[in-house]
Amino acid sequence: MDDNTAKKPAIVILISGRGSNMISIVEAVKNNSLPVTVTAVISNRPDASGLDFAQQAGIETAVIDHKEFESREQFDQALADKIDNYSPDLVILAGFMRILTAEFVEHFAGKLINIHPSLLPKFKGLNTHQRAIDAGEKEHGASVHIVTPELDDGPVVLQARVPVLADDTASTLAARVLEQEHKLYPEAIRRLVIGHVT
Ligand code: GAR
Repeated sequence: MDDNTAKKPAIVILISGRGSNMISIVEAVKNNSLPVTVTAVISNRPDASGLDFAQQAGIETAVIDHKEFESREQFDQALADKIDNYSPDLVILAGFMRILTAEFVEHFAGKLINIHPSLLPKFKGLNTHQRAIDAGEKEHGASVHIVTPELDDGPVVLQARVPVLADDTASTLAARVLEQEHKLYPEAIRRLVIGHVT
């Protein structure tokens, strides 16, 4: 650890699955284009494949399994306690597929960031790619936003746009959007930590 490392903002990344956005963030840190330290990767699912990548990258990992809690409030409390152990400057939701309580969001107010696969405020919630196709959208994309208690709401930090092609299926469109997400998320975090977004 060099002197610079200690001064970098700390981030904790929350995942639920393959974690390709988490991987793009870790890779941006590795190639020095994102000045943060990834302190931990936490999953709500023990089988999230992204955990293997994080471990191999030498990042501390943890699992808070939502199935082990009787209520959303208890799960969120355990998750918040775990995150607090790392005192992060930002908490990054990267394909974290749990709805969070208002208490959790308020606890991390201003520090909680999400990526959502649509051009918000369009298509909040699930199945965004199919819904964009069904609505006849010519353009679709992804948004990085600051999390507020309302689902997929909150100030947008940065968006990426892609065309919707005539023969797109939800999966071809999702792949086009995901490619952009991998550039968008590290760049949005970079802007947040260097203070270009308030
Ligand atoms: C990403 O497309 C992300 O935008 C989306 O889940 C995928 C996770 O992929 N997030 C949401 O839908 C949140 N509501 P990843 O695990 O490979 O990063």
